[in-house]
Amino acid sequence: MIEITTLSELTIDGKLALHRTSSSKELFDYSTDELKAWFHGQRALSDAIMVGANTVRVDDPQLTVRHVTGPNPLRVIPSSDGLLPLSSALLNDGLPTLVATAKTAQAATVAALTAKPGVEVVCCGETEVDLAALAKLLAARGVKRLIVEGGSTLLSSLFGHDLVSKIIIKHIPIISGDPDAPTYLTLTPRPGLNLGISRWRMDDWFVKGGIGVSIYGREAAP
Ligand SMILES: NC(=O)c1ccc[n+]([C@@H]2O[C@H](COP(=O)([O-])OP(=O)(O)OC[C@H]3O[C@@H](n4cnc5c(N)ncnc54)[C@H](OP(=O)(O)O)[C@@H]3O)[C@@H](O)[C@H]2O)c1
Repeated sequence: MIEITTLSELTIDGKLALHRTSSSKELFDYSTDELKAWFHGQRALSDAIMVGANTVRVDDPQLTVRHVTGPNPLRVIPSSDGLLPLSSALLNDGLPTLVATAKTAQAATVAALTAKPGVEVVCCGETEVDLAALAKLLAARGVKRLIVEGGSTLLSSLFGHDLVSKIIIKHIPIISGDPDAPTYLTLTPRPGLNLGISRWRMDDWFVKGGIGVSIYGREAAP
């Protein structure tokens, strides 16, 4: 059994980044050291951490545990075609990284990824990564807690397949004001997704350094 927790930083106007092409690292910088440590502590408590391929392209994240002492979780990147920038930080630091592709990924692309130290590629889906199958694969490898840090397309797919059991939101007290900045969930419907109403229970909330954090658990469907 795998527990999937999403962890996101959201502006007052519900944006995951200040602008369409800006990195969410700008939002992380609004945190105090204490809150950064709490957030990275959530990574350290997880066996694996996932972001979508576009987040790798836009943010170039490391997805390691810093700001606090703890083990690095396995990094998991769903990318149907596997076309991640080969210069990405997480493909070049030698730490374990699992790239999940679909059958449509070209052999040369897969070979270029697996040539990177610490990188493994698994095929998990026909034309796009099957997230439920990927979750099962991770569970079979002993992953009990997976933390997902976005972006909106990946979050929409996970909620649309009812795979999320816990939501953590850090409320950044700022308004982006940019209509093109990415929203928490995508505004464009994706085929095969049932992204309807779901009920959540607030389990905890607190304020650290002037920033609110809320934590929700999944209520059983009515
Ligand atoms: N504030 C925060 O907490 C936070 C956290 C993370 C990211 N962000 C921001 O979010 C933005 C990126 O979000 P995004 O929506 O463009 O991209 P995303 O969710 O990071 O990545 C989506 C991509 O993942 C791949 N993918 C493969 N299988 C998938 C599946 N079954 N469902 C969904 N995606 C799948 C696809 O790329 P392929 O074409 O390779 O298959 C897809 O285009 C950036 O601006 C970033 O800064 C914010």
